[in-house]
Amino acid sequence: MSRPRQIKLGFILHGVGPGWGDWRHPDAQPTASTDFQFYKRQAQIAEAGKFDFLFVADSVYITEKSSPHYLNRFEPLTILSALAGATNNIGLVGTLTVSYSEPFNVARQFSSLDHISGGRAGWNVVTSWLEGSAANYSREKHYAHDVRYRLAGEYLDVVQGLWDSWEDDALTFDKASGQFFDPAKLHTLDHKGEFFSVKGPLNISRSPQGQPVIFQAGASEDGKNFAAKRADAIFVSHDELDAAQAYYKDIKARAAGFGRDPDQLHVLPAARPVVGRTAEEAEAKYQELINLVSIDNALSMLGRPFNDYDFSVHDLDAPFPDVSEHGANSNQSASLKILAAAKAENLSLRQVALRFATPRGHFVGAPEQVADALQLWFEERGSDGFVLFESVPGQLELFVELVVPILQARGLYRQDYEATTFRGNLGVDFPVNRHAVKRDVAA
Ligand SMILES: Cc1cc2nc3c(=O)[nH]c(=O)nc-3n(C[C@H](O)[C@H](O)[C@H](O)COP(=O)(O)O)c2cc1C
Repeated sequence: MSRPRQIKLGFILHGVGPGWGDWRHPDAQPTASTDFQFYKRQAQIAEAGKFDFLFVADSVYITEKSSPHYLNRFEPLTILSALAGATNNIGLVGTLTVSYSEPFNVARQFSSLDHISGGRAGWNVVTSWLEGSAANYSREKHYAHDVRYRLAGEYLDVVQGLWDSWEDDALTFDKASGQFFDPAKLHTLDHKGEFFSVKGPLNISRSPQGQPVIFQAGASEDGKNFAAKRADAIFVSHDELDAAQAYYKDIKARAAGFGRDPDQLHVLPAARPVVGRTAEEAEAKYQELINLVSIDNALSMLGRPFNDYDFSVHDLDAPFPDVSEHGANSNQSASLKILAAAKAENLSLRQVALRFATPRGHFVGAPEQVADALQLWFEERGSDGFVLFESVPGQLELFVELVVPILQARGLYRQDYEATTFRGNLGVDFPVNRHAVKRDVAA
């Protein structure tokens, strides 16, 4: 019997917070981004709230203008492996960039995490949008946007091919006969493509999920096609429900166009709830958030999707400058959205920076109000769930205490985990090993 459609929830482990001023909040712990105990506490609260997964974002280039969390944080696979031992049910999703890594290593790393966690690994496949990253990897130039997505497709072919090196029952461990594995069930990849040449097989057996879950967050045309074709879940960022609905419809149609069941692709907008026990308390917390952002912070934040562009060289109160060329090969979609809003409303640089740094969003209020808004986005098909991040310290705990029970009482959210693997909880099918499929077809 199929399960009722319910809200999926992820939580972004962001240490001290994504903003430039977050660490200055009276309740913030400035060392949080490299404090294992902090991560463990948040992971366990999210698991008590029956969240589907934890997410650790990443990038591989900083400047002195980067935010405190970017300046000083854990590498995702390392912290997720540690959290695997501190949790039991929650999925463990980490970002790893295809532009600055090798598929053989990455296949091993995520397969290892899947084994260590008993089937809870997920990989957010990104292509990286900061050009400076190239200088950390002995390269002169960052790949162009379209090349990055072509490379990402081949990269994923290799990784998923390697994950099928061993059939599920290939390791026989037959002490009596001395057969450690069945050679007919071990497969060499022999991949030779435009970017990669990888022989295989992988030196770790097939993991509990068969293959770790694939996340993607592309928002350009290339990014959306990649996600619709290959991902089990997609992160996205929307300010308004109508834009979220249009995106949802579009991405599900693309998935169907690629011959997929659209229900196997979960659309998860990022959301930053600001919950209070009353609406007034929530407003006060939102004000705390605004107070943390100086105009200098806002300019640094705005620069990020434009390849860390330095906006401080422009007059704050003049019309928004034409900086489109800095966004084109960086975070293309986010930069285009900002440029379009600035143009449509004739905004100054100051107005754009402050709006971008402290978007109010739709999830500010008393617990029922926040639950209502989440329900609306979910039921009106703006999303299949959300990936949440903390606005100010203590919000995760409040959300779990006050909002989760309301969603559960409305039948919108699980009372308990349904399965032992992340795939099982997310409702994503187990991928049958391609070589086993071939043999079954032949038989
Ligand atoms: C919720 C969310 C999380 C993201 N996490 C990361 C990340 O950890 N690392 C990264 O390089 N990009 C991350 N991105 C950015 C995307 O990978 C992508 O670069 C961006 O959405 C622009 O899309 P495009 O590549 O199709 O132009 C994230 C985006 C969203 C919406």
